[in-house]
Amino acid sequence: MDDGNGRVDDSDAEGCGGDGEVRVVVRHGDAETVTRAAVGTTLRDHLLDHGLSPYARLTERANCGGNGLCATCGVRIPAGEPDPTHWHDRLAARFGYPRLSCQIRIRGPMVVELVEDKRVWGGRE
Ligand code: FES
Repeated sequence: MDDGNGRVDDSDAEGCGGDGEVRVVVRHGDAETVTRAAVGTTLRDHLLDHGLSPYARLTERANCGGNGLCATCGVRIPAGEPDPTHWHDRLAARFGYPRLSCQIRIRGPMVVELVEDKRVWGGRE
């Protein structure tokens, strides 16, 4: 559970239930949606499955399909941020840019913020 300071308490039974699922809190605008994700799921796919698109209006349809090529699926991860594996994601983590949700495998509880101020490709709806 996020303690409000960007830290996730991994000991939270709701976060790691031992059933192969973990808690993923998604902040979008002023709202927050609590979801459960199967460990190993790509964050992008998890978000889309829950109607929580990481994309801007135009890139919702025109994106690389999760192949790490278009850089339009960025999200911020204030808690539970996994180590980056993709070169773009390593740079994003290093310089504080949004992380590519398609390059993140959910391994533990996390808090995700959809980037609301995307101005390129039509912004968000
Ligand atoms: Fe294209 Fe993530 S969907 S980089």
